Amino acid sequence: PKVVYTVSDGDRVVDAAVGESVMSAAVRSGVPGIVGECGGQLSCATCHVWVRDDFRERVGGPGEMELDLLDLGVTDFTDASRLGCQITITDELDGLTVEPRPEAW
Ligand code: FES
Repeated sequence: PKVVYTVSDGDRVVDAAVGESVMSAAVRSGVPGIVGECGGQLSCATCHVWVRDDFRERVGGPGEMELDLLDLGVTDFTDASRLGCQITITDELDGLTVEPRPEAW
């Protein structure tokens, strides 16, 4: 499945593997704005993305611990916010489009 990352200089399209996360696909492909500092352990929020509206239902909302981290860890938390390490790529999510939300750390 493809994942599309909307970054300032255009879209980055990554061929992701089923089962990997939106964070790991981005990090391995050098997508700017997604760091994944904690390696997906739900403790850094450097993988924050906004999920494009038409994918939000399919992706679903954040889990309880993820919500806590978003609440505390990012300044631009919206209804579209998810942590990229907590979104698992599936065939159904082919074409998933997210906007990395880098912060000044
Ligand atoms: Fe650290 Fe997602 S990679 S919270």
